[in-house]
Amino acid sequence: MKSLTVELSGRSYEIKIGSGLLAQCGELIGAVTDAQMLAVVTDSNVAPLYLEAVEKSLTAAGFSTVSVIFPAGESSKNIQTLNMLYERFAQAGLTRGDGVVALGGGVTGDLAGFAAATMFRGIDFIQIPTTLLAQVDSSVGGKTAIDLPQGKNLVGAFYQPKLVLADIDCLKTLTQRTVCDGMAEVIKYGMIADETLFSLLEGMGGIDDLPKYWKQVICICCDIKRAVVAEDEHDTGRRGILNFGHTLGHAYELAYHYETYTHGEGVAAGMVKMLEVEEKQGKNAAQLKARLLALLKKFRLPVKIECTMEAYRAAIGLDKKAKGDMINVIEVETLGHAEIVSMKKDVLFALLEA
Ligand code: GLY
Repeated sequence: MKSLTVELSGRSYEIKIGSGLLAQCGELIGAVTDAQMLAVVTDSNVAPLYLEAVEKSLTAAGFSTVSVIFPAGESSKNIQTLNMLYERFAQAGLTRGDGVVALGGGVTGDLAGFAAATMFRGIDFIQIPTTLLAQVDSSVGGKTAIDLPQGKNLVGAFYQPKLVLADIDCLKTLTQRTVCDGMAEVIKYGMIADETLFSLLEGMGGIDDLPKYWKQVICICCDIKRAVVAEDEHDTGRRGILNFGHTLGHAYELAYHYETYTHGEGVAAGMVKMLEVEEKQGKNAAQLKARLLALLKKFRLPVKIECTMEAYRAAIGLDKKAKGDMINVIEVETLGHAEIVSMKKDVLFALLEA
C-alpha cells in the first residue's frame, strides 16, 4: 500500500493506494475518525459488488453502519437524491459525531461528499473510489456537488475527506469504456504536468497492458493532484490547470444531453480542440497534437466530437472559470506544462467558430 499526504493549511489527509484495501477499510477508517456510526452511500451498480465487504470490515472494526443505495448514473446527482440521503441519515440516528463513506465513482463521491458537508453543518467524510476516474481525480481535493437541470456541479462545497482509499482491485470489474473514461484524465495529467507519465503511456501496448501499471499510474496522478490542491485548495488560481480540456468537454457532454459521451470522452475531444484553438492563435501545437491523438486513439477515446456554437456558448456561460465577459482557458504548448490564459469569451467563440 502506498500513502500520499494532501497537505492543507491546518489539516492534512492520506490517500492510500493499493490492493485489498476494502477488506481493511474498517481499521484504516478507524484511525482517522471518532465516529461510531458510518453511513455508506453507494449506487445500484457498486452495491452488489463491494458493499458487503465494506460493511463487514466496518462492523469488524466496531462501527455501526447504515447503507444507502441510489440508482446509478449522473441523473441521480440531484436535489431529490440528496434529500433522500439526509432523510435516511436522520432516520438511522446519525449524529454530528458520525460520518459518511462514499463507495463508488464520481457521482457517488460528489453526492455523498455534499451530503456530508451539509448534514449537521459538516460531518466526517471518507472516500472509497471504485472507478479509475474517481481514483485519479474526483475523490481527491474536496470538490463536492450536485447538478441542476441548467448544468452540472452548479451547487456544491469544498469539503475535504478525512481519508481516500483507492483499492486497485475494484478496477477489475470496470467495463472497458469506464476504464477509458478514466484514462482521459490520466492522459490529461501527462499533458499538464508530467512528460514522463505521458511517455510511460506512449510506451504501453494498449488497454490490456494497463492493469500491471495501475498502482504506478494512480500514484503519479494523485501525487500531481495532491500538489496542485495543496497550492490552491479553493480553485482560485493554479488548480484551474486540472481543467485542461474540460470547458469544451463540458460542451460536448451538454450538447448530447449527457447521454452519448462520458465525461472522459468529452475531455479527450476537448483537449484536442483546445490545441486547435492554440494553433489558430499562431502557437506551435502540431507535434503535441499528433502525440495526443495517437495516445487517445490507443485508449479508445474520441479525438473529435461535433458540436454547435450554441452548445459551446451554453457550456462556456456556465463555466466556473468565467468571470463577466472573460474566461480562463487552460493551454498546453509544451508537454507537461499548462498555462492559465485569460481571454475574452468572444475571442474564444471566434476561435472555435473559425
Ligand atoms: N477535477 C478538477 C479539480 O478537482 O479541481
